[in-house]
Amino acid sequence: MKKSYIFTPGPSPVPPEVGIAQVKMVHHRSPDFGEYLDRVLNGLKYVYQTENDVIMFTSSGTGAMEGAIANCFSAGDKVIAFAGGKFGERLVEISNCFGLNCIAIEYEWGENADPAALEKALEENPDTRGVFLTQSETSTGVVNDVEAFARIVARTDALFLVDAISGLGAVDLKTDEWGVDLVVGGSQKALMIPPGLAFVAVSKKAWKAVDTATLPRYYFCFKAAKASQSKTPPETPYTPAITLIQALDVAMSMIKDEGLENVFARHELFARATQAAVEALGLEFVATDRSRAFVTTSVWAPEGIKGGDIVKAMRNDFGMFIAGGQGKLKGKIFRLGHVGYFDRFDITSQLAGLELALKKLGYPVEIGAGVTAALKVLAGE
Ligand SMILES: Cc1ncc(COP(=O)(O)O)c(C=O)c1O
Repeated sequence: MKKSYIFTPGPSPVPPEVGIAQVKMVHHRSPDFGEYLDRVLNGLKYVYQTENDVIMFTSSGTGAMEGAIANCFSAGDKVIAFAGGKFGERLVEISNCFGLNCIAIEYEWGENADPAALEKALEENPDTRGVFLTQSETSTGVVNDVEAFARIVARTDALFLVDAISGLGAVDLKTDEWGVDLVVGGSQKALMIPPGLAFVAVSKKAWKAVDTATLPRYYFCFKAAKASQSKTPPETPYTPAITLIQALDVAMSMIKDEGLENVFARHELFARATQAAVEALGLEFVATDRSRAFVTTSVWAPEGIKGGDIVKAMRNDFGMFIAGGQGKLKGKIFRLGHVGYFDRFDITSQLAGLELALKKLGYPVEIGAGVTAALKVLAGE
């Protein structure tokens, strides 16, 4: 008998009660659905820490990234996008695809985006209309300092767009207090439901840009979405992923019951426990700054072992799905998950599987060293 575990940083594990919530089909023009959607939209405001509109789309996160750009900018607009991983690169790719004049600030994968680089770029480009940053760069495990960036963007007329697809609900992001204009989120990470829903929190400043922006948009039209969501009860313009919204209703109440601060603290604790294990096993981190890296722990595969072999060994031998590297880190790293519905024993199981896989692949492991280090953190030692 082999169990199956999903330890990837998205899609992440789904609580059984969230899964079960998808069984009963309701019609999306029925009052029942309106009630679900109303609660979910309010719940999203709680997670986003915002009074701004949160627009929902039936799509994966990338759809909402595209929507945020298509609704708020016009061809030729100058934007600055930070790219230090696969998802930062995606911001640049979407910008180029839509004909923006995108200044890509590339930084080393594993490093943090540097606020000083933004200050310099803005000085050199006072006509910048948008600044794009990835909060949690899932491909490297790095979590950027959104607040520091927000302070700098606030001195300009530019819109600040943050891809928070993997960090939303895991690492603090105070949308209103920090003044982030566009915050993109996705369903399959800390929000604990399957893939298929994406969200954007839209500030008043961003709504003004929507009025004048001329890039084409249809499915991802913010105004159409807002008009439907503003009805009583709220609706969506097109057929939504109804069952995912039912699932999100349950997941939101779990998050509210736990309390956002406690949810953040749990993510930090599990990340710290995982980091302690990685150190105890003598492995090297990809993320150079781990003070906020609470979504996924990216680790260099040891000399002579391919990252993919560790992923395969854990999957084939123990049914544990962890993530390998993406883009230029493919084959070189592996990523341990701790975002969303993880408990302490998911963390220790994952680490136990890692130890056994490493041993099988010939890496010298003192069996139990990583798990013990993690348990000590979990025990508050
Ligand atoms: C930070 C980040 N941005 C964007 C995406 C893309 O989201 P999706 O695959 O849901 O389109 C992901 C997915 O892993 C992500 O982690």
